[in-house]
Amino acid sequence: MKYPKTQFSKSIQDQDRVSSPFLIKYSAVATGKTGKPYMNVILTDKTGDIEARIFDQVPRFNAQAVKDTFVQIEGNAQSFNNRMQIHIKDLIVLREDEVDADEYLPPTFLHPEKLYAEVTTLIASMKDPHYKALMESIFVDDAEIIAKFKRAPAAKAMHHSYPVGLLEHVVSICKTLDFLAGHYAPHVNRDLLFVGGFLHDLAKIWELQFEKTTDYTTEGRLIGHLVMGVELIEKKIQWLEAQPGRLSEPFPNEKKLLAKHMVLAHHGRMEYGSPKEPACIEAMIVHMIDDLDSKVNAMRVFIENDPQLGMWTLLNKNMERYFYKPEWARKNPT
Ligand SMILES: [Fe+2]
Ligand SMILES: [Fe+2]
Repeated sequence: MKYPKTQFSKSIQDQDRVSSPFLIKYSAVATGKTGKPYMNVILTDKTGDIEARIFDQVPRFNAQAVKDTFVQIEGNAQSFNNRMQIHIKDLIVLREDEVDADEYLPPTFLHPEKLYAEVTTLIASMKDPHYKALMESIFVDDAEIIAKFKRAPAAKAMHHSYPVGLLEHVVSICKTLDFLAGHYAPHVNRDLLFVGGFLHDLAKIWELQFEKTTDYTTEGRLIGHLVMGVELIEKKIQWLEAQPGRLSEPFPNEKKLLAKHMVLAHHGRMEYGSPKEPACIEAMIVHMIDDLDSKVNAMRVFIENDPQLGMWTLLNKNMERYFYKPEWARKNPT
């Protein structure tokens, strides 16, 4: 038997009685002012997230309301500080076959196959035999990488944090880099720009786990996608050199170092997690375009999902400002 999804996060109103399954995105025990423990929970479904609280039987529910589990909840909705919150009175854990998983994951309006075709077309247009072979060894030959790359988000929260977001981000960047390669010709190397565009965030497919909700992996927390990206370059170059006839000469050391630099420098500054700051024009361009693409996406998604009526969004805490809402984003009072 399937538990029908009867209520969705987005449409829950103040004072609603809530009786529906949700997916748990986050849960943690906190202590209230009186010293009594309670639970902070974030529930999610395909329409978005909603906060919830559990005040009674915390030890029991703490063992059940675990991240990435489906639960049938019973509770009441209350508006608190302008945000909807569900007070959960009871919950039961559901098995995966008791829910329709599509109701709980954000729908994607992106087309992974089309976007991936854009990746292979750009790689086919590369001229440098070493950089081109390196890109092919990853994006054409490695089925495991390709499968993950077609599904991964680009981040846990900040930007492109939805399925296929990484692929969308990479294609958007590489198309911009293609334009800039012409604009700044002959002083920039188009192929090196592509190496940076394609590889800078690729290791996010291992830095994050994204089967249901997104979180960091242990490798992601301990190593991170910049160093993991460099390890991938090293591994793939060794693999290419071991394939008879794949390269006409060993991979030149200078090209290898530049490829690694593109990944290591893409966060731009040491305080943003880059162990090296951009030392060549291509690395500077990739850093700037990466930053631009992330910020445009973060603003667009925030404006699109803002619940306010009128011209201004709620406060965006990351950028510490309110955003102006253009006509397409304004909601009509219902
Ligand atoms: Fe990054
Ligand atoms: Fe990026």
